[in-house]
Amino acid sequence: EKGGFDHFMLKEIFEQPKSISDCLRGRIHPEEAWIKLGGLRDYIGKLANSKRIVFVACGTSWHAGLVGEYLFEELARINVEVEYASEFRYRNPIIREGDIVIAISQSGETADTLAALELAKSKGAIILGVCNVVGSSIARVTHAGVYTHAGPEIGVASTKAFTAQVSVLSLMAIATAHQKGTITEDTFRRLLWELQEMPKKVEMILQKADEIKDISKLFTFASNFIFLGRGLNFPVALEGALKLKEISYIHAEGYPAAEMKHGPIALIDEDMPVVFIATRDSSYEKVVSNIQEVKARKGRVIAIVSAGETEVQKMVDFTIEIPNTHEMLQPLLSVIPLQLLSYYIAVLRGRNVDQPRNLAKSVTVE
Ligand code: F6R
Repeated sequence: EKGGFDHFMLKEIFEQPKSISDCLRGRIHPEEAWIKLGGLRDYIGKLANSKRIVFVACGTSWHAGLVGEYLFEELARINVEVEYASEFRYRNPIIREGDIVIAISQSGETADTLAALELAKSKGAIILGVCNVVGSSIARVTHAGVYTHAGPEIGVASTKAFTAQVSVLSLMAIATAHQKGTITEDTFRRLLWELQEMPKKVEMILQKADEIKDISKLFTFASNFIFLGRGLNFPVALEGALKLKEISYIHAEGYPAAEMKHGPIALIDEDMPVVFIATRDSSYEKVVSNIQEVKARKGRVIAIVSAGETEVQKMVDFTIEIPNTHEMLQPLLSVIPLQLLSYYIAVLRGRNVDQPRNLAKSVTVE
């Protein structure tokens, strides 16, 4: 049932080329330049006209929501807020006419996310869902939604569900932006092409699993980790830290790279490994200077870099190259090496990666 893999988590990491293409299937056509989200037929127009979108979610799904925030703001120029469902539901949230509340949930059963949605609905919001499990409670309570089609996720740590959520949010943001006219036809086509290429590019990263395993051997006994990224790679840094915490029980924190100076830099020394996501995008130069600051304090650095990059390569201890893509779609690729890194570190520490202590696959109590 694990398809020859040692753990469900590894199987699910390796399934991502397929789960992403299943998620995209029938929904985009780069040659004919169209995007179609059957579940949202009547709602893309409403999204395009909305003044505000609020994402509610927990854990990894909340990280996907943060990626969604960048996507909707940048492409569709819509004001977005991303809320922990547990906080949203207990603070008398402000919902105005035309606000759209979108729940993101793999299981579709997370108690806080469901309650947050019901509250938003009672206040008159349009509520939408991005769920993996078909027919789940959240899928049933929403006005409309999009399934992620990642297939069953057994490993407690979410991997393929995350990339499918980010794929769906990309589709939603691109469709909304296209409808609204906030992206050019050129950008629209380029994004569709890049999405189409994604499974192949994910596959290229998976081929580096052994390389990542070798790096993980040198960090097995670290007791802390920091993950840093900027822009769309900030939520990826948070996700990298969460994965490592959950399955290896190593204390890890994710920060926007520029926040480092405001506190976390005090932690940096030779015993503090730092993972940078330093792909060639609009914040690349800034990230490079953040890396210099860490190296100056003897931090050991692993950097996720764009293929062909040489500058960062010279500065850091280890680099993992990933293929280039459109900046807005980068998280789909940059998260993959972080999933593998956590997995191998946890296995080397002898952890039960598929069922980490104290965690349940779906949190149906608050
Ligand atoms: C992390 C993880 C959890 C879930 C969270 C939300 O790997 O699995 O943080 O992401 O419990 O679950 P769903 O998406 O089912 O609402």
